[in-house]
Amino acid sequence: MVTRTELVALALAAREHAYAPYSRFKVGAALVTASGRVFTGCNVENASYSHTCCAERTAVFKAVSEGEREIVGIAIVTDTLPPASPCGSCRQVLHEFGADAFVVCANTQGDERHSTVRAFLPEGFDPEVVLAAIRRGEKG
Ligand code: THU
Repeated sequence: MVTRTELVALALAAREHAYAPYSRFKVGAALVTASGRVFTGCNVENASYSHTCCAERTAVFKAVSEGEREIVGIAIVTDTLPPASPCGSCRQVLHEFGADAFVVCANTQGDERHSTVRAFLPEGFDPEVVLAAIRRGEKG
């Protein structure tokens, strides 16, 4: 299994691929899944700004699209002091596939903050709530 230190290094490298001509705010992410596979991501902006995808969600969608649905941990690298924490949308997307995952927020200077998805999103919207309603046959 990749170490947290290695994940941070991979996220730092992924940050170099950030496509951020509008904000100039580069973000890199690297996550590890239960089977030990690693996926990286960067933010990908768009001239139609709202279509931007954050680094964390890029990495999650890469993992899920490759058949991995259980996230064990993620490292996120920015160039801020202190290291930036994931946005609300990314917290919810991470919660879907790894509510108990560890999160390392790091910066390019080597500072790190260690936390978990659950700590970042207490009482996050749980997939089981929706699945249970579907099982009960609730009508919209
Ligand atoms: N961004 C991320 O990649 N992750 C976050 O958690 C917050 C924000 C990106 C989106 C946009 O490209 C830039 O940072 C500035 O908001």
